[in-house]
Amino acid sequence: MILSIESSCDDSAIAISDIQTCSLIFHKKISQELKHSYHGGVVPELASRLHIQALPKILSECEPYFDKLKAVCVTTEPGLNITLTQGIMMAKAISISLGIKYIKTNHLSGHIYSLFINNPTSFDSNICVLLISGGHTQIINANGYKNNEILANTSDDSFGESFDKVARMLDLGYPGGAIIEQLAKKGDERFFNFPIPLSKNKQNAKLEFSFSGLKNAVRLQIQELKDNNQLTHENIYNICASFQRVGVEHLYQKTKLLLQTNNTFRGKKFAIVGGASANLYVREKFSALCKEYDMEIMFAPLEYCSDNAAMIGRVGIEQYKDGDFSDV
Ligand code: KG4
Ligand code: ZN
Repeated sequence: MILSIESSCDDSAIAISDIQTCSLIFHKKISQELKHSYHGGVVPELASRLHIQALPKILSECEPYFDKLKAVCVTTEPGLNITLTQGIMMAKAISISLGIKYIKTNHLSGHIYSLFINNPTSFDSNICVLLISGGHTQIINANGYKNNEILANTSDDSFGESFDKVARMLDLGYPGGAIIEQLAKKGDERFFNFPIPLSKNKQNAKLEFSFSGLKNAVRLQIQELKDNNQLTHENIYNICASFQRVGVEHLYQKTKLLLQTNNTFRGKKFAIVGGASANLYVREKFSALCKEYDMEIMFAPLEYCSDNAAMIGRVGIEQYKDGDFSDV
């Protein structure tokens, strides 16, 4: 078995997976969302302190499996340095004290491998992956956990981050993604006509994402409504719906641009991963796009879209099989 640790941001999580069958034996996550929601976003110093309390608590539940462990893997990048360090120190201590292999795992590879949790199959061919999380918005030509090619990136905010920021402007709490998705259901998605990012003639051909302009347009609209005493519940729903429609339309347009200009993915697999891939509006929109391009769409199970240690363990299994170990 392999023990995996995730502490790249505000989730403390540990999992144990079976190396042979890839099945998940144990998984626990202690989310810090409530503690950060008072501050409207993640406070790195607080997150680090909360990992110090949560990780040993979860680890104590793993003791019955200690004699079966062959390796420990841990997220080492990307993420917040002072929170990553908590997981890394714990993983090193486990590796030394149990005399087992130490594996450094990439968080983004983890999101990609969330597609294969509890599943021994992985890459039979390259997968076009749209990674949408709080820290990243990328399209990746993925063929495993290394040498993946980034085909598109955001030049400013990430998709999930823009949901968090709009939620903050409306005092809806943190994280904003799921809250906005729910409120959007009650609103009119055509009520506010926010501009679709990078869709004007000259920017049209650019294969990149940008969410700061949209965020700013929403900010100005909220201010105008506040100034006119019109920030009613109904208008909050309309803002959520209109913002979500435009943000997702931007993801859709740029992905379509890639599929139009790059034939390599036709008839192959397309996956959406990362915390924001739990958004059902996104899933619906991209399911239609994949039909159009004769692509099979893949998603991670809803409970493994946001940060977790099961996905880190799933990559760790591949690294273990490849002998991809590091010195402590
Ligand atoms: O992957 P994740 O847990 O953490 C990072 O690696 O960043 O993603 C968290 C992000 C947050 O920004 C959160 O607001 C967003 O994913 N998110 C959503 C939804 N659920 C979570 N965004 C849009 N719609 C959702 N339903
Ligand atoms: Zn993540």
